[in-house]
Amino acid sequence: MSAETFATVDVIRTKRDRGELSDAQIDWVVDAYTRGVVADEQMSALAMAILLNGMNLREITRWTAAMIASGERMDFSSVGRPTADKHSTGGVGDKITLPLAPVVAACGAAVPQLSGRGLGHTGGTLDKLESIPGWQASVSNEQMMAILREVGAVVCAAGDGLAPADKKLYALRDVTATVEAIPLIASSIMSKKIAEGTGALVLDVKVGSGAFMKDVSSARELAATMVGLGEAAGVRTRALLTAMDVPLGRTAGNALEVRESVEVLAGGGPADVVALTVLLAREMLDAAQVVGKDPAEALRDGTAMDRWRRMIAAQGGDPDAPLPTARHQHVVTADRAGELTRLDAYGVGVAAWRLGAGRARKEDPVSAGAGVQWHVVPGDAVAAGQPLLTLHSDDQERFPSALEALSDAVTVAEVGTTPNRLPLLIEKIGG
Ligand code: URA
Repeated sequence: MSAETFATVDVIRTKRDRGELSDAQIDWVVDAYTRGVVADEQMSALAMAILLNGMNLREITRWTAAMIASGERMDFSSVGRPTADKHSTGGVGDKITLPLAPVVAACGAAVPQLSGRGLGHTGGTLDKLESIPGWQASVSNEQMMAILREVGAVVCAAGDGLAPADKKLYALRDVTATVEAIPLIASSIMSKKIAEGTGALVLDVKVGSGAFMKDVSSARELAATMVGLGEAAGVRTRALLTAMDVPLGRTAGNALEVRESVEVLAGGGPADVVALTVLLAREMLDAAQVVGKDPAEALRDGTAMDRWRRMIAAQGGDPDAPLPTARHQHVVTADRAGELTRLDAYGVGVAAWRLGAGRARKEDPVSAGAGVQWHVVPGDAVAAGQPLLTLHSDDQERFPSALEALSDAVTVAEVGTTPNRLPLLIEKIGG
């Protein structure tokens, strides 16, 4: 048994027995895992011990620092404008980054946004943007800097050099049921955001059935942990707890969500998407200490749309090209009159995923046109036979399993019986 194998077992045992990991143990295990010295099965055991027994703030802070140190740190100080970024913990129909980045750029801050692809029932920003013909997610650090200077907003894939420890660990957590641990989620998100080098950061921590965090108290704990990590690293950080009991907007699916985002940039679009875009944009500008145009005005006067077009073109996309549509549609109608009392975010997310909008394994392709469109939201009156949802897929055989995911997620009942929803903004932490 090598000294390193022995050390790994010791680290696992410490956490298994509810002990505290020392700074030296954390530095060693994160570095050794990145180098392949600590095996996947050992890190799986440690991740499970962390999920079950937690970590204190010192351990989380050190773990985050070790993940940052596993790769490069970016520096946008020469962009010439304050930088601000947003991170969402993920939800269904959450297309907010698409209108938000150009809106914030139009109001005077620079937005360097490294985004991810979807896994499971939540969609990924890069998958959505890739439905725009020609658009490329990968840009070099030099291109990223040039786009930030010229356009003010760039949404792209994180390079391999950024927090490689997190890339490896996140893939492992995904297949070992260890994603839902607050210390691991907080360090995963914040290591990437701190390494990315943004000056200000607004976290959109989703709460509800379609989110990682199903209840307000765990979302609050995650948000406070992340705000603490950001502030300790010199990033002006704040978090908004926002609703994800009902999906956002009217669509979930890649091209469907791009279309809806363009409607918002054109001054229209669903009220909740507009409200959340404006709310997050104001927070980002405030955190970046930029006093300029109001985001609602940038949506009205076309300056945000202009930024969007330039942002898409800068990464090879054609903002005027028609977006892909799925080959088949299936309309779900109301079997009675009444009121839509339930539209569950998780069920809609699973349905969109089963229709082809998401992937089961990270190497799977996604369908650009697939997804779910809902024509009513909870509280709306419904007539018998009225269309409630349209399902979109390239493969008709996917409709039955999507319908099964929706069977408990959509309810029409007596008028006046819709339960209270979470407010769009539940709480703000930091700032
Ligand atoms: N998003 C991340 O980047 N990491 C997590 O652990 C969860 C969500």
